[in-house]
Amino acid sequence: MTAELGNARIMIVDDAVTNLRLAKSALSGAGDVFTVTSAERMFELMDTALPHLILLDINMPGMNGIEALKALKSKPDTADVPVIFLTGLTDTGHEVEGLRLGAVDYIAKPFEPELLRARVGIHLTMRSQRIKLETQSQELERFNRNLQAMVAEEAGKVVRLQGAVFSTVVDLVESRDDITGGHVTRTMNFLKLLMDGAVESGVYSDEIGAWDQEIILQSSMLHDVGKISISDAILKKPGSLTPQEFEEMKLHTTFGAAVLDKISATLPEEDAQFMRHARIFAETHHEKWNGSGYPFGIPGAEIPLQGRLMAVCDVYDALISKRPYKDPFPVEKAERIIIEGAGSHFDPNLVGVFAKICHRFREPGGSAGWAVRKVLSWRAGTPVALCGGGTTDYARSPEHVHTFIFNFKYLLLQINLFNSFQYYWHIFHLLNNIFYQYFVE
Ligand SMILES: [Fe+2]
Repeated sequence: MTAELGNARIMIVDDAVTNLRLAKSALSGAGDVFTVTSAERMFELMDTALPHLILLDINMPGMNGIEALKALKSKPDTADVPVIFLTGLTDTGHEVEGLRLGAVDYIAKPFEPELLRARVGIHLTMRSQRIKLETQSQELERFNRNLQAMVAEEAGKVVRLQGAVFSTVVDLVESRDDITGGHVTRTMNFLKLLMDGAVESGVYSDEIGAWDQEIILQSSMLHDVGKISISDAILKKPGSLTPQEFEEMKLHTTFGAAVLDKISATLPEEDAQFMRHARIFAETHHEKWNGSGYPFGIPGAEIPLQGRLMAVCDVYDALISKRPYKDPFPVEKAERIIIEGAGSHFDPNLVGVFAKICHRFREPGGSAGWAVRKVLSWRAGTPVALCGGGTTDYARSPEHVHTFIFNFKYLLLQINLFNSFQYYWHIFHLLNNIFYQYFVE
């Protein structure tokens, strides 16, 4: 609380009653002036109300002024109360010690009433100014904190909105031709396993190590974005494609790159890395090591590394997945096909890595753990964690965990019972409902 001459609470401490009377008279009209004859009594009174300023004698029986000042400065409640020493002729040297210990001033006795009043007025004004500055500084700090929170909230909204749009695009692409679902998520997870394996084996580790892992993996989800341009008759054809249909199918690579170019032109510079990776994935994931792939037929290391990595993951997932024209292959057969494709379809260095670590592709936690967790957290902007067994390590309460697991099991049951396209959207919406109900704010 601020106080100046007129409404101040001033305490005068002196064992000489004459001095107390004189000082009280000099400060009449300055506010509430309390007089006490000992430091001990001063502390008793201060338990009831803190003074705005203390005039403190040095030489007193019992606790002297220096000891009293030390005690005042040692307590957080009283440390900031300004103290002016009243010094007598015999107190030489104590003025310096008093100022060093934190007194704001000293006044020699016998004092001039006018001088005493003027000095007290100055120190009360200085105290008020200090308190105003501290209050303003605290308000400024609070304002800054609020501003930072608002900026973070707005930034969070933008990230969530971007995530929602991105998620919609990925779902749209996947819903066009992925009968069993999960291709995008699985290939992303395989990509992570393959990149980790390559780095462990020292294969392309410099190039892969220089990539931002989250950006590269998230951008890989758009590798088939060009399929939105391919007709249903081709995408869902239960048999093999005619040469003409295959030519149309090939266009999803260049079309995907063109779509991403258009989007890139509207995005800020900070998204350039994401879009550059996404474009390379979309355009080059069907190129082959021997130059017989599409759209360009470029061979070997001319194919960007992202495309060579995705070729392995994309084909492996196609092999182990159900398609309109085939049942899923056993993993052993899929692994053999990939390994046999070294040097013809696939980069032999990457196949070498694949051969070492393909057992990791089979692990439920490998294919459904990390990637699902990442996708859900990207999409929700929430630290959601699902693992292969359908459990969760994040939820708002135990009831939510229980209900979520129940619903998730129900969802899995439906997928098993109705594993056909006509139920795809039903299942998809059910998953969305469950997801948004329990994990999105
Ligand atoms: Fe593709």
